[in-house]
Amino acid sequence: MTTETREPPAPLDSGFRRNDDASARIGDASARNDDMSGGDDGVSARNDVASGGNGDSPVAGDAILSVRGLETQFFTDEGIVRAVDGVDFDVLPGTTMGIVGESGCGKSITAKSILQIVEAPGRIINGEISYNPRPETNSSTDLLSFDANSNEMRAIRGGEISMIFQEPMTSFSGLHTFGNQIDETLRLHTNLTKQERFDLGVDWLARVGIPNPTQRMHEYPFRFSGGQLQRAMIAMAMCTNPRVLIADEPTTALDVTTQAQILDLLQRMQEENDMAILFITHDLGVISEIADEVTVMYLGKVVETGPVFSFFDEPKHPYSKALLTSIPSMFTSSRERLPSISGSIPHPQNRPMGCAFHPRCQSFMEGTCDVREPELASVNEAQEVSCFLYEE
Ligand SMILES: Nc1ncnc2c1ncn2[C@@H]1O[C@H](COP(=O)(O)OP(=O)(O)O)[C@@H](O)[C@H]1O
Ligand code: SF4
Ligand SMILES: [Mg+2]
Repeated sequence: MTTETREPPAPLDSGFRRNDDASARIGDASARNDDMSGGDDGVSARNDVASGGNGDSPVAGDAILSVRGLETQFFTDEGIVRAVDGVDFDVLPGTTMGIVGESGCGKSITAKSILQIVEAPGRIINGEISYNPRPETNSSTDLLSFDANSNEMRAIRGGEISMIFQEPMTSFSGLHTFGNQIDETLRLHTNLTKQERFDLGVDWLARVGIPNPTQRMHEYPFRFSGGQLQRAMIAMAMCTNPRVLIADEPTTALDVTTQAQILDLLQRMQEENDMAILFITHDLGVISEIADEVTVMYLGKVVETGPVFSFFDEPKHPYSKALLTSIPSMFTSSRERLPSISGSIPHPQNRPMGCAFHPRCQSFMEGTCDVREPELASVNEAQEVSCFLYEE
């Protein structure tokens, strides 16, 4: 846990005159990245539970991002889908929180909820997302107190908190050169001159390992290879010196060599910038490489959270254990069948009674697990688990 008083991160470039006081920046930005803003009325129509924006939100310890009771639902013709169903976790500055779980468990919708870019018919209906860019001054803001399309959220989105995706073209327009797009981002989030913005764009392309960066500034995204596009997206996300990076399966589509290079790049940037990373993946190998803490999700809920070493050495929740035994071992020959978790994930609309994992759980206790729902609770100093096996 980071407890010492920190200076704001040094700018990565001497010409970078970013406004380092986050609270000053919130509210002074004009429109940016409208493709990121989601822009559906449903998001802002959520129930307002937050007191927010006045610095008195409860924040766990020194967390830069603290998510509490987050609920995001999709109001479909077939009924309500509880995609995120009461999620809590904290991310500390300079550390990486890994979010893991099988496909459909609510990882991406959790990330999109933080930035309020959930598409209709999705709505954040409850929760608090405390953003505390300077934990030493403990002046937190509840991001959910801002409207999705407000100037405050536009300043935070892509400025304070950036996001990278599995599919890099999500972050780019095919109609503009890379240089124009990074220029737009820097124009909205910094006070740099046009020449300074261009130089910083070149600098960032070079930093992420793209050859001929000056020339590439004038090229369209389709001219970049898949790996280069991924790097260019990271350059775009990092150029504003964000305090938090949300990475949603950013390496899933890449070959192992490029994946290793990208992870290395993110870790280097994190060290330089004391940036917090929320790293979403279903790949536990990647988690072992990059995460400090791990949050395991199942059907829209957190079932276990704790330090990465505890997760790998002493997983507590039966679902965490099942995920870990499903990892292909280095010694498994390609002809052997890999173990997988028995049963399939129920659709969030058909959530089982009691513990949602009970139909697949090897430790299922009849009359308990199918009747009551376990709550997330501490099982030791470091780990929290929601399972009746650990109930006092
Ligand atoms: N546009 C949508 N409409 C209805 N349901 C959705 C939509 N997007 C996501 N969901 C539901 O939300 C759940 C969580 O999705 P997501 O967060 O994308 O999962 P993942 O963990 O794979 O990232 C999914 O099971 C899906 O049923
Ligand atoms: S509460 Fe019961 S069903 Fe759920 S994970 Fe624990 S033992 Fe398994
Ligand atoms: Mg996803």
